[in-house]
Amino acid sequence: GPEKGAGSYPRYLYWLNGIKFSLEVTLLAALIGIAIGICIAMCKLSKHKIVRALASIYTDLIRGTPVLIQILFIYLVVFSASDLPKLVIGAIAFGINSGAYVAEIIRAGIQGLDRGQMEAARSLGMPYGMAMRHIIIPQAIRNILPTLVNEFIVLLKETSVIGYIAGNDILKATNTIISQTYSPVEPLITSAVIYLILTSIFTFIMRKIERRLRAGDIR
Ligand code: ARG
Repeated sequence: GPEKGAGSYPRYLYWLNGIKFSLEVTLLAALIGIAIGICIAMCKLSKHKIVRALASIYTDLIRGTPVLIQILFIYLVVFSASDLPKLVIGAIAFGINSGAYVAEIIRAGIQGLDRGQMEAARSLGMPYGMAMRHIIIPQAIRNILPTLVNEFIVLLKETSVIGYIAGNDILKATNTIISQTYSPVEPLITSAVIYLILTSIFTFIMRKIERRLRAGDIR
C-alpha cells in the first residue's frame, strides 16, 4: 500500500514526535520573541524620534500582515539557500512575529504605570536608568508576566501553521494519521485534546504566577 510498514510504527510515536516538535518550536520562538520584544519596546520608549518610528514600522508591519505570509517569506526567500532545520527556520519566523506582540505587551506594561512613579524616583535624585531598573521595571513585570504567558499560549497554537513549510508538528502527525486511516474524526479530536492539555498547563502556570504577584501586593 502507499504507507508500507506504517503498521510497525506505533501511532503514539507520531503524536509524541509532533508534541516534541511543537513545544521545541514554541520555546525557541518564545526566547527569540522575548529578546526582540525587549529591544523593540526599548526603541519605542526611546527619546529619539527616528528610533521610535523604526520600531513602530516593525510592529505595524508584523502585526498587519498574516503570520503565514511571514513564515513562507522567511522559508522560501530569506533561508531559501540554507539547510537550517525546519524547526529553527520556523522558530525564527514565529520569533520575529511574536517579538512585535511582546514589544507591545512590554511597552503597554511600562507606559501603563503611574507617571508619578518615575517622577517621584527622579525627584529623589535617582538617575533615569536607576529609576527604570529599581522602580519601574519591577512593577511593570507584574503587568507584563501574565500577558506574556498568554502570548506563549497563542504562539503554541500559532505554530500549527508550520505544516506550510513541512514541519513535523502536532498537526502534521494528525494529517499523517488521517491519511493512513482515512478517518479524520479520531485524529482531529486527539490533536485538539493535546493542544487543550498543553494550553491548560500554561493557563494553570499563568494563574499561579498571577496569584503570587497579587499576594506580593498585600503589605
Ligand atoms: N494568526 C494571526 C496572524 O496570522 C495572529 C498572530 C498572532 N501572533 C502572536 N504571536 N500573538 O497574524
